[in-house]
Amino acid sequence: MTYEERLQHVSVLGAAGKMGSGILLLTAVEMADLSMKPENRGKPFVLYAIDVSDEALSGVMKYLKAQVLKIAEKKVVALRKVYAARPDLIDNDEIIDQYIFDVLSIVRPSTRMEAAFDSHMVFEAIKEDPELKISIFKQISSNNPHQPWFFTNTSSIPITKLDEGAGLGGRIIGFHFYNPPAIQKLVEIIRAEQTLPGLEAFAYTYAKNLHKVVVPSHDVAGFIGNGHFMRDILHAASEVEKLGNNFSFVESVYVMNKISQDLLVRPMGIFQLIDYVGVDVCSFIMSVMDHNLKEETVHCPLLDRFIALGVKGGQHSDGSQKDGILKYEKGRPVAIYDPATKAYMAISEFQASVDKILGNLPVVPAWKAVVGNKAKEAILREYFGNLKAASGLGAELARFYATRSCEIGQQLVSSGVAGSENDVNTVLLTGFFHAYGPINNYLD
Ligand SMILES: NC(=O)c1ccc[n+]([C@@H]2O[C@H](COP(=O)([O-])OP(=O)(O)OC[C@H]3O[C@@H](n4cnc5c(N)ncnc54)[C@H](O)[C@@H]3O)[C@@H](O)[C@H]2O)c1
Repeated sequence: MTYEERLQHVSVLGAAGKMGSGILLLTAVEMADLSMKPENRGKPFVLYAIDVSDEALSGVMKYLKAQVLKIAEKKVVALRKVYAARPDLIDNDEIIDQYIFDVLSIVRPSTRMEAAFDSHMVFEAIKEDPELKISIFKQISSNNPHQPWFFTNTSSIPITKLDEGAGLGGRIIGFHFYNPPAIQKLVEIIRAEQTLPGLEAFAYTYAKNLHKVVVPSHDVAGFIGNGHFMRDILHAASEVEKLGNNFSFVESVYVMNKISQDLLVRPMGIFQLIDYVGVDVCSFIMSVMDHNLKEETVHCPLLDRFIALGVKGGQHSDGSQKDGILKYEKGRPVAIYDPATKAYMAISEFQASVDKILGNLPVVPAWKAVVGNKAKEAILREYFGNLKAASGLGAELARFYATRSCEIGQQLVSSGVAGSENDVNTVLLTGFFHAYGPINNYLD
């Protein structure tokens, strides 16, 4: 079966979810573009968008329409060539409307899993539950006569476990998009022990056609991205505990969030990032890693404590940040949750006194000013040189954080999860928007 034949019959599972909706959009556009090639005209291209609720699916169709409009506007010149044989399409608006119609007419929303029984390719983005994923793969595989290939967006579950659990005989690969899939450039591709070579080759072609940056990861729970992120969380949580001797709980969280954002020149502090992903989601990913990694404990009691109090973060349906460990106003953290009082405490109440204790810090370049700057390397070298020479608690915590982050990256390479230091750095640069890779010699 050729690349194009494989993409004629596709299903996306969890299509109304955060990840599934983006995967649906990318796949719908890729399929529509293939269907418009002269050699494919007249061939059916069918994409089932499968999820549990009709209401959520109708929301996804609206999302698709709005996103395809933006895509069409950007490529209207190319679309003019695609529709060259259509003299009825004159204005840009007519061409754009036709493209939206052509993309959307490929997509069939459905709440029935049976819709996937005729697909050649199944993209799975349902919730991070190994048992549920396995049972759905089994159900589709045993009812689908086409021996479909499965692409799973799991963040942490070893692909070999899913393959063996569902008896797929290698018809599965990890295709780990980052959130949101339509915008984030990174995809981690993870082959299971038995993944079919043809499926793997297809996955790389598909990623290339979606203009993604691909980093292969070894099939170890958490892969590279979460492998680094979860251990970064454990480091921050352990530092919060240590700081508890000199600071209150909310002050300690404030300190580690500030160190990990400002002093490490990152787009978000570690606790803001946990809220962004979801406190419960992070905790669940850790539990999968903990279950699968025999020689290491990946468990964070601090996250358990927040979850037990109903503090979960995550995003509202419009994409705005929900309150979590931090409370947000216009997207910026303004307060921190105190489990002892079960209330948020305003950062402004203690910020000045805590900053004083952190000591004199080197002038920190803002992440925004560094990330796309041509002189990035020189700016970072100068900054970290100053950080290395600085004294005081803040500088000490920042150096320790950066060193630990580097060690985590190196461990991912030495344990074989990542193929190279460059792969680790690419994941953090591309998937987490860091200004620099964690494995560097800035502090040497
Ligand atoms: N959110 C992220 O940042 C992120 C990033 C990378 C990977 N992932 C992974 O992607 C997957 C989906 O995560 P998400 O954040 O999009 O979750 P989500 O909760 O936003 O979406 C999951 C979707 O699956 C649907 N669903 C649940 N059970 C179903 C079933 N039996 N049949 C069909 N649909 C069903 C839900 O209705 C929901 O729409 C998970 O494996 C997660 O680990 C998430």
